[in-house]
Amino acid sequence: MIIRREEEKDYLEVERLTREAFWDVYRPGCVEHFMLHQMRTDPAFIPELDYVIEEEGRIVANIVYTKVEIIKEDGSSTFGLVFGPISVLKSVQNKGYGSTIIRYTLDLAKEMGYPCVLITGHPDYYHRFGFESATNYGFYYPGYPKKDSNLEDSKSQDISPFFMIKWLASKPFITPGEYHDPSCYSINEEAMQAFDKEFVKIDKLRLV
Ligand SMILES: CC(C)(COP(=O)(O)OP(=O)(O)OC[C@H]1O[C@@H](n2cnc3c(N)ncnc32)[C@H](O)[C@@H]1OP(=O)(O)O)[C@@H](O)C(=O)NCCC(=O)NCCS
Repeated sequence: MIIRREEEKDYLEVERLTREAFWDVYRPGCVEHFMLHQMRTDPAFIPELDYVIEEEGRIVANIVYTKVEIIKEDGSSTFGLVFGPISVLKSVQNKGYGSTIIRYTLDLAKEMGYPCVLITGHPDYYHRFGFESATNYGFYYPGYPKKDSNLEDSKSQDISPFFMIKWLASKPFITPGEYHDPSCYSINEEAMQAFDKEFVKIDKLRLV
């Protein structure tokens, strides 16, 4: 197993891998391969944390990170990191590749001096890497209630178990605030559809 930086020659293979890993998992089809494609040219993208795992000559896993803005109560902002998409080829999932590439790049991010990584994902998976609820530290996600709001009065779902932080820096921690997805996470549906046509057609899950 080789863990190494992604190179330009890998881009198409990694986009295919991302598409294969995410296809029909969170929605019919997926958008993550297009997201990855547009992220690479975004100023928030961090090429030094764009890693792949190669096994027997093919890429089986990829992770990418971007800088994320945190807007504090006083209107000033600070930066953390967010990772994703993270993808492992379906045929080799649950064999530790995802955990290996996450741990490896979190260590690198720490060495690079980033204070924290904020993500939304499944706590059952991410707790093992030291992620914990970001809401408990006072971070909040636009459109979702803050920690102390009355959830019964709110139409929003409680995001707190899924919105997580991993601290990389030692205390004192950065001041919490409102998390903002990097702009490269936004998907233009038309552009995405056009991009997806360049890939082999796969039938999408049909919603009933
Ligand atoms: C999620 C993903 C990156 C995990 O990588 P992996 O190499 O398959 O997983 P690992 O071998 O490191 O870890 C396996 C463990 O994670 C758990 N796990 C895997 N995917 C999970 C998920 N989506 N939610 C919760 N737990 C998950 C497995 O049940 C297993 O648990 P166990 O150790 O208690 O038995 C990979 O399955 C993947 O690419 N999935 C599709 C894309 C995706 O969902 N990306 C993450 C978006 S947040």
